[in-house]
Parts: sequence; C-alpha cells; structure tokens
Amino acid sequence: MSEGNIFSVSKESRRFSPSDEFRAAARVKSREEYEALHRRSIDDPEGFWLEQAAQLPWFKAPTKALSWAEPHAKWFEDGVLNASVACLDRFQGTPTWQKAALIWEGEPIGNDGEPEVVTLTYAQLHARVCKLAAKLRNLGVHAGDRVAIYLGMVPEAVVAMLACARIGAVHTVVFGGFAAEALRDRIQDCGAVALITQDMSYRRGGEVKLFEAARAAASQCPTLRSVIVHLRKRENAALDDDAFARAFALEQTVVRLTSANDLPPTREHAAPAEVPAEHPLFVLYTSGSTGKPKGVLHSTAGFLLQTQLSTRYVFDLKEDDLYFCTADVGWITGHSYITYGPLQCGVTCLMFEGAPNYPKPDRLWEIVERHHATVLYTAPTAIRAFIRTGEEWPKKHDLSSLRLLGTVGEPINPEAWLWYHRVIGGERCPIVDTWWQTETGSIAITTLPGAVDAKPGSAGLPMFGYAPRIVAEDGTEVARNTGGKLILAGPWPSMLRTVWGDDERYKAQYWSEVPHVYTTGDGARQDEDGYFWIVGRIDDVLNVAGHRIGTAEVESAMVSHPAVAEAAAVGRPDDLKGQALVVFVTLKGGHEPDDAMRARLLDHVAKEIGKFARPDGLRFAAALPKTRSGKIMRRLLKDLAAGRETKGDTTTLEDLGVLAALRGAEE
Ligand code: WTA
Repeated sequence: MSEGNIFSVSKESRRFSPSDEFRAAARVKSREEYEALHRRSIDDPEGFWLEQAAQLPWFKAPTKALSWAEPHAKWFEDGVLNASVACLDRFQGTPTWQKAALIWEGEPIGNDGEPEVVTLTYAQLHARVCKLAAKLRNLGVHAGDRVAIYLGMVPEAVVAMLACARIGAVHTVVFGGFAAEALRDRIQDCGAVALITQDMSYRRGGEVKLFEAARAAASQCPTLRSVIVHLRKRENAALDDDAFARAFALEQTVVRLTSANDLPPTREHAAPAEVPAEHPLFVLYTSGSTGKPKGVLHSTAGFLLQTQLSTRYVFDLKEDDLYFCTADVGWITGHSYITYGPLQCGVTCLMFEGAPNYPKPDRLWEIVERHHATVLYTAPTAIRAFIRTGEEWPKKHDLSSLRLLGTVGEPINPEAWLWYHRVIGGERCPIVDTWWQTETGSIAITTLPGAVDAKPGSAGLPMFGYAPRIVAEDGTEVARNTGGKLILAGPWPSMLRTVWGDDERYKAQYWSEVPHVYTTGDGARQDEDGYFWIVGRIDDVLNVAGHRIGTAEVESAMVSHPAVAEAAAVGRPDDLKGQALVVFVTLKGGHEPDDAMRARLLDHVAKEIGKFARPDGLRFAAALPKTRSGKIMRRLLKDLAAGRETKGDTTTLEDLGVLAALRGAEE
C-alpha cells in the first residue's frame, strides 16, 4: 500500500489497496472471492456452516447446522465437543504442541532493564489448564456452575477460562478495573460458586489491589464457596500454605492457584467434559440501557467456530505469525481474540500486563520490536493517545516485523487511521477495522485484508454469516448513503443466546425494536460500494475510550450517594476518548455544590463502578430539563455538554428557566 493508491483526495473516498505481495499470499485474494464466500454463507447457511463445522474437533459431529425459533438459535445442536480441546488438545502430536501459545510480558522493568517474559507452549498451557481444571473439580465445581474470574492481564486469565471450559463450568470474567461493588453485583447475578482472583496486579507503576476488592465482594456473595488466588507478587508467592491462609482469611475456602504441594492431576480429573454444542461457555456482563448490566450468554460450538474462522481470515494468520492483541481479557475482545480465536488457530499470542505507555510512551513499540510482532490489534483511543505523544516515540523502534494492523471498539477517525498506516504500518501494512459487539461474539463487519480496499473511517463489508442492513425508524430499509439504525438480519453462530436469567430482556432489547431482526444500538450508513460507516451508539450507551458505559449505570451509581437528588449522564465528543462522560447533578437540600462535593461525587462513581467510569465532567444544576411527562431531555443536555447551541424543539420542556440556568453552570 502506498500513497500512490489514493484514488481521490476527498477525505471520505480515499481508498487503500493491499500490495500485490500481500494479496498474493492472502487467504482471500479478491473482492469476488470474498463475495462468493459471503453470499454462500447467507444463501445456504446450512451447507456453509456444516462444512465449516468440520474445523472443530468434535467428540460427536453435528448432523444439522441450525434450529431457529426466533429469537432463539441453536447451532450444531446434536454435536458434542469441548472448548479447551478445540484450543489445546487438538494440537497434541503436531508441531504446534511445542510452539509458544502465549508470550507474556509483565509491566515492571527489572533492575537489569528487562521486563519479565513468560513463554508457554501449547503443551505447557495444556498442563496448567488440566491442573486448574482438576483443582476446580476437587473444590466441587460442576459442569454448568458459574465461576467468576477477576484477574489482571496475566497468562492465568487464559488458563482460568480454559480450565472452566474444560470441566463445562461457565466463566464470567470481570474486568480487573471494576470495583468491589461491580464485582459483587456480577457474582450475585449469575450465582457464581467460585472466584478466581489474584493478590494484586501491576498497572502504570502502581498496584491494583484485586484481592482487597475480591474479599469485599466475596463476603457479600452467599453462593460463593471457594476463592482461588493467583499470587502475582514475588513476596506473596513465597508464602507457605499456612501463612497464605492467614493472610487471606475469608469465610469461603481459599486456595492458591498453584502451590508447591499440588499433585499432578489424575487423568480422570483433568479429562475434558464432553458437552453439547449449545452448552453455555461464558457470561460476559456489558452495559445496557438500564442501570443493571446484562449478562450476555455465549454457548460453545457456534462461538468457537465463528471466532476461529474470523481470526484466521481477518488477521490472515500464517504459521509463523506473532499476533499481539492489546485488549484486556475482561472484555469481549480478550475472550474472542486473545483466548478462543487465536488458540484455535494454533498461533502465538503476545499478551502484555500493563499500560501501553508505561514507563515511557514507547512501551508498546518496544514490545513489538522485542518480540517481532507481526499482527497488532488495538483501539482507536490508544492510537489517538500515541499521536498526541508524538511520532518520535514509535520512530525509535524497528517496527518492520509488522505486516497487518487492526482496530476495534469505536469508530476510527480518518486522521488516526492515516497516522496508524503511515507511522506504525510504514505504509506497508493493511489495516483491518473490525466492527462487532459483546453480543455478536465475533467480528461482523471488516475489510478483509488482501481481498478488498480499505477506506479510512469505514468498518468495511460484512463477514461470513452476517447480514447487516440500515433501516429507518419504521424498520424499512433506507437508500444507500442514508443514515439509519444498524440491524443484523437472521441468526449467526456466535450470537448471544440470551441475557443471563432474563430472557424477556433479551427479547425486548435486541429483537423487538425492529421486528424479526437483531438491533445493534448503533447508527450507520452504507455507501455506494456497500461499505458500512459506523456513526456510534444511538441508544443510552456511551463508548468512552472504547469502554462501553451505560448512562443509566452511571446515574444509578451517582444517585446512590446520599447527597444526590437526581443525575443525568450524557456523552460529549472528545478528541482523545471519542466520547467523554459528563454528568448533570442536582443535590438534595443542605448540600453545597462546591469543588469538594464535585470531587466526592466523582470518586463515588469510581468506587461504585470502577476508575475507568469516573466522569470527565460534572455540572451542578438546580433542576434538570424535563418534558411535561417528567422525562429528562437528554438531547438538550448533550448539546449543553458539547458547548453547542441547543437545537431543535424545546416546546415540550417544562420550564425554560432550567435551561437558562444550566447554560451558566460550570464543570
Ligand atoms: C462500538 C467491542 C465503530 C459500537 C468489540 C458497538 C465500533 C460497541 C467498532 C460494542 C468499530 C466496536 N467501529 N464502532 N470498529 N467496534 N464499536 O460490546 O458502538 O465492548 O456497538 O464490543 O462498540 O462494544 P463492545
């Protein structure tokens, strides 16, 4: 790819073609080839997916692809398999078995100037998974039981997920940035029987006290019987079992993840559970339009198959690739594109514990250079942060090992795309933008590298099995280049199956806004070439630095503070984070709207949800603008937060004086 491939100077229509060399070696080499595959996946899903299903190591192969009773799908229903076998055991006896599955780099830099690096081959990862699986079984965890995982970015997070999968337990990973209250709510919602956590993790030179939060949460979770602790800190790792028990005394049984006394697991205890295709694999909580997070449930075979297929095609993986995904295992990207997708492909996955700009702004580039990463998958927010610190930082490093770049999580602005392409990709690497959601389980829209041109800022074309469309308010399809709601027609293998414990919410949230199709909550348009351009969320969910945050969640955290009468959270455009979070607050009588109160309330949200959800701005207001029926007029608040003139209709506003007063308020 080179600047010579730019067909037009107009920002919206610049196109970048893969080089002939990249194309020649790519898995899919032309748009025609891509279209033929995609068309078949939509026109003959039964044939296409049954054929693809041969990619999974079944104990019993399925005879049927799909049973669809809208909005409930069952894929490969009569097949029997195990997810940890699909990621590990399948490679036994092949050269992959002795190849690195994970290369992990810790954040702290040692006295010798080097970070800690741990490499686990597929065989070693398998051994660790078997050990933990046996331990879980010994603790009485059964197939179908839920196990919460609250860890930092350590290899043990991957081990923990796969150990759960091995015994048929359902994991729910809770992002390590969540606070004790958020962890407690998630454990309680799914009734987890065990929690896998760690003493602490390193982040930006500080210590994240995971165990303290875990202890606070665990003491309020009656379903939790056991807590397994991974000891990350060298001093703690040296604790003998008695000292360990004293240090971590809890009501529940507490054991260490690995201890010198561990016996190798027996064959029986480490054996993979043979589960049906639709057996639940994991629950991952995500923000929605109410204060209560939704437990998105994914099942086994469909999720495995579509993550495997997309990892292979989107990242165009080859035997010797070193794939580096900077997402946290606590989010869906860490599930689909650190653990399940890459391991099923037998690739080597690089995992980093810390912040990409710690201790210096070139940490990420140092990692790429040290390990010779070939594929890098990161978020636009990170790219914008790198742009800010200046291109002299990546320029210090040899990034010539990179051959493909990816982005995920939020729309990428063309400027960031072009910088990524020029400075990081050396104008040589194709960039795959990837649009998808916790709910879709796998990449739904992308620019398959080698097959199609990229247009900076556009997510691209549908992946196999996905049928996105743009519809108007009334559900009818709109013309090309007209904005509307992004929907997905029909079921796909890695789709969510339901919301944990709340099937009504599943139906209402995703399958009723527009009849007979899945509503994504995003706004988008499709251009004349069929490319999708994502505008962003059009529901009550914000995307702050690639993190999904429900406005209702922030509001309910805010009003749980005794001084707060009412709160409304809205997004405001932000150069770095995409969107920033601003909260409007009215206080109860007797409380002063001063800076001390502002700081207290912001800290309160950080404590209730997690630091990443701490609002960027807070405005006190004597009253919030409401319609005559009492609904907060968020549209007006959004305009105010963005410093825009309030546009549009204010005739339903109950009291125009409220608006005037808010205009004068400061953050
Ligand atoms: C947004 C993350 C534009 C979108 C995988 C979606 C994107 C939400 C992109 C899902 C992209 C994700 N371009 N927007 N390439 N990728 N989004 O569940 O609004 O954390 O609905 O999944 O992120 O966020 P989630």
